[in-house]
Amino acid sequence: MTKTRQCWAVVPAAGVGKRMQADRPKQYLPLAGKTVIEHTLLRLLGSQAFQAVAVAISLEDPYWPELAIASHPSVITAPGGKERADSVLSALKALEGKADERDWVLVHDAARPCITADDIQHLIQTLEQDAVGGILALSSHDTLKHVEGNTITASVNRQHIWRALTPQMFRYGMLRAALQQTEGNPAITDEASALELLGWQPKIVEGRPDNIKITRPEDLALAQFYMEQQA
Ligand code: CTP
Ligand code: MG
Repeated sequence: MTKTRQCWAVVPAAGVGKRMQADRPKQYLPLAGKTVIEHTLLRLLGSQAFQAVAVAISLEDPYWPELAIASHPSVITAPGGKERADSVLSALKALEGKADERDWVLVHDAARPCITADDIQHLIQTLEQDAVGGILALSSHDTLKHVEGNTITASVNRQHIWRALTPQMFRYGMLRAALQQTEGNPAITDEASALELLGWQPKIVEGRPDNIKITRPEDLALAQFYMEQQA
């Protein structure tokens, strides 16, 4: 059995939240007494799984410096990038000299504040001896249709379809190299897709359905409901 490696968290938080249509980026909207990003970071820090959390923040972001958690000793701030993948790569660079090439990095969206220590532990325990790593995912309950225009052209076999969540857990060196090699490719919407493009085969680990991403206005009430259920 190989030596257990240290784990680091990376949190992309430099998006503008266009689909949320709010007066500020969605990570700064209030939810159950805190901002969304405070919940996310407090849960990552509280899991005790990480050496540090590197957060990618837009250079024009006036909200981040106002939060006490921005100066937490285990929180490292990195400049955000144009796309999510650019933000993740920037946060990885901020861990240079700290993280070892074979250490694990768990990338988790700032917009997923309902993440549980349970899910984090489950992901790490399942994959820590894996060569590549993998992601939390959920199976699809709905019947899925392939559609052109508004016409169904096929029904998709649901058995092979999973929805990608975060955290996504990969080796520091391998993930950084994969994101560098696929830089600017619009098809790279998560970490796994960058590794897949280079021929790696990441694993999936079934996650909890309450680990939702705040994307549209109605998601805030749903996140609040899940948090009350978790308490
Ligand atoms: N993100 C980032 N840098 C970007 C774009 C997104 O760090 N250039 C982050 C977001 O802050 C979010 C996560 O990636 O925590 C997932 O992205 P998404 O849900 O798409 O957030 P936004 O891009 O902010 O929302 P939208 O796509 O509706 O504009
Ligand atoms: Mg986006």
